[in-house]
Amino acid sequence: MLFDLIKNRRSVFPAQYNDQPIAKETIEKVLEAANWAPSHRKTEPWRFKVLQGESKEKLGLFLSLKYLENDASPKEFKAKKIIQNPKSAAAVIAICMQRDPEESVPEWEEVAAVAMAVQNMWLMCTELGIGAYWSSPGLIKYMGEFFEMNRGEVCLGFFYMGNYDEKVSDAVRMPLEDKVDWL
Ligand SMILES: Cc1cc2nc3c(=O)[nH]c(=O)nc-3n(C[C@H](O)[C@H](O)[C@H](O)COP(=O)(O)O)c2cc1C
Repeated sequence: MLFDLIKNRRSVFPAQYNDQPIAKETIEKVLEAANWAPSHRKTEPWRFKVLQGESKEKLGLFLSLKYLENDASPKEFKAKKIIQNPKSAAAVIAICMQRDPEESVPEWEEVAAVAMAVQNMWLMCTELGIGAYWSSPGLIKYMGEFFEMNRGEVCLGFFYMGNYDEKVSDAVRMPLEDKVDWL
C-alpha cells in the first residue's frame, strides 16, 4: 500500500551498504520515477548526473580536497570519511536544478519540484529494497568545478544508493496535531 511505502522510506547511509552492485536498468527506473514529478509551468527543472566506478571515486577525492582546503580546522578522519562514502555506494547521483532561463516561476518552486523528483526516487528505492539518502554537504557549492554545469544549473546534493542487509531502524515523527490547524 502506498501509505506503508511512504512510512517505510528511510535514510540508509553509506556505512550500511554492502558491496552488491545496482544494475543500470534499476537506476534508470529510479530516474524515470523522478521524471514523473510535477513542476509549475512544466519547467521540469530536475537534472541528474550518475556517478559509478571511477567517477564516483573522483567525487570523493574532489570533495575531500575541497574540505581540506576550505575548512577552518579540518579533521583527518572526516576527510577520509568523505572519500569513503562514495566508495561504499553502488551509485551516487548528483541532484541538480536547472533554473528556467525565462524565470517563469520563482526559484523556490523549482527547488520544490526537484525535491518532489527526489522523493519519487526515494520511494522507488524503498519499493526495490535499495538503501538511499539525500546528502547535502556545504561542499556542494564547489560542484561547478567538478561537473560541466549549464548556465543556471546548481547542485542541490547527492542521492546515495546502495544495497544493504541489516534492517534499518524505525523512525519517529513529531505529532501531526502540532503541525496542522483545522479551520
Ligand atoms: C533536502 C534534504 C537534505 C538532506 N541532507 C542530509 C545530509 O546532508 N546529511 C544527512 O545525514 N542526512 C540528510 N538528509 C536526510 C535526513 O537527515 C533524513 O531524511 C531525516 O533524518 C529523516 O530520516 P528518514 O529519511 O529516515 O525518514 C537530508 C534530507 C533532505 C530531505
